Amino acid sequence: MTRILVIDDDKSICESLNLYLTEEGYEVTTALTGEEGLKKFQAQSWDLVILDIFLSDADGLEILRRLKGKSADPAVIMITAFHDMPTTVRAMKLGAVEYIHKPLEIDELQAAIDRTVQRKALSRHRGKEVIPLSGQYREYDIVGKSKAMKEVFKTIGIVSESKTTVLIEGESGTGKELIARAIHVHTDPRKPFISINCSAVVETLLESELFGHEKGSFTGASYQKQGKFELADSGTLFLDEIGDMSLNMQVKLLRVIQEREFERVGGKARIRTEARIMAATNKHLRELVERGDFREDLFYRLNVIHIGVPPLRDRREDIPLLVDHLLLKLNRELNKKIGRIQTRALRLLIELDWPGNIRQLENTLRRALVHTHGDILSEESIEDALRDIPKAVSQSSSSPIKSLDDMEKEHILNALKIAGGKRGRVCELLGISRPTLQRKIRKYHIEME
Ligand SMILES: Nc1ncnc2c1ncn2[C@@H]1O[C@H](COP(=O)(O)OP(=O)(O)OP(=O)(O)O)[C@@H](O)[C@H]1O
Ligand SMILES: [Mg+2]
Repeated sequence: MTRILVIDDDKSICESLNLYLTEEGYEVTTALTGEEGLKKFQAQSWDLVILDIFLSDADGLEILRRLKGKSADPAVIMITAFHDMPTTVRAMKLGAVEYIHKPLEIDELQAAIDRTVQRKALSRHRGKEVIPLSGQYREYDIVGKSKAMKEVFKTIGIVSESKTTVLIEGESGTGKELIARAIHVHTDPRKPFISINCSAVVETLLESELFGHEKGSFTGASYQKQGKFELADSGTLFLDEIGDMSLNMQVKLLRVIQEREFERVGGKARIRTEARIMAATNKHLRELVERGDFREDLFYRLNVIHIGVPPLRDRREDIPLLVDHLLLKLNRELNKKIGRIQTRALRLLIELDWPGNIRQLENTLRRALVHTHGDILSEESIEDALRDIPKAVSQSSSSPIKSLDDMEKEHILNALKIAGGKRGRVCELLGISRPTLQRKIRKYHIEME
């Protein structure tokens, strides 16, 4: 755990920092004078010191000088009510890493702490031009050492004891599906894991995808079909993008969860299901409930155990590990032999904000690797990869919204699947004419058997 020592003669600042930082998962100790601060500093080891410049008994800069003289050499963030250049310059020369002003803004403080943690992640490699990869890679590993990810690991362990319903919330590309699969594998890997994207298909199709349909139940249903609930059997049904499910479908899903029974579309027989349900969303489901776009009763049924996956920019200390993991993975995929990464390159990767999270990091590394020969990943290759697809990357991966064209194409593909490839039936299902369908098939380069 990151240990922070706060030295400030203002009691209320000590108290509020203690409260906030403890809440954020740091181990915090406070000192009200320079003397007390030095004493506590010497008593144990610290990752970070937050030090006021004006102390009642001493000059903060003098305390800084003495802290820096110790062998431990901690990272120091200075706080001050004064904004003058000379003091700043002196503090920086004495080796303070960051400077924040009173009145304290929590965001500013948190950003300073984040930057310090980032530097620490790199400091192991100080002076080195390149960093070797660790050389370990296991396919379904979830990588991370941040407090948030450790919490996620703990939860995965707990929910794998039983078949509890789990709701996973997080931005696009944060690893929601990976987590769902991990829970499934830890619970019972021999059972099926069936995944369905609730945003990709419209209501009627989604219903038959979930519950299956009987032959002749609607135009186009030329054969009996098992739905995802049946396919999941007593394994896992993973409902991805649950926030996009229509209110109408929500009612139907709720019923199945409550009664553990359903009928195929057009069928009468009640079919029992033992499937475990996991759902994921990149929206805040509770907000959707408040807006009336998501049923509250279904929300509570799904939100038995909640896993919130934080965006990558809020857990940058995971980036070096992820880069390692992803490079080893991409080496295999692209038949490359990257064994080292430039320290500058890793620094750049840590500093970027990654709106598309791990998926975007992975895609960027993939593009960088394609153009890399030899065994070192350079900063330039990453810069090139970032430039390659200027906005498209961040847009497509950060935005939960698909383009209309993508939606339409997916929709047509689904209809084709359900209609068994019969164009006439697809037209009926979609309510469009044959020439229109022809045009769209050409437009989206859809291949027909
Ligand atoms: N902690 C992690 N360790 C290793 N790989 C990860 C981790 N998190 C995500 N990934 C990888 O990043 C990619 C995206 O993850 P995943 O598909 O699970 O994200 P998601 O949250 O479901 O995204 P979306 O909302 O876009 O569907 C995958 O290739 C996954 O293996
Ligand atoms: Mg996903």
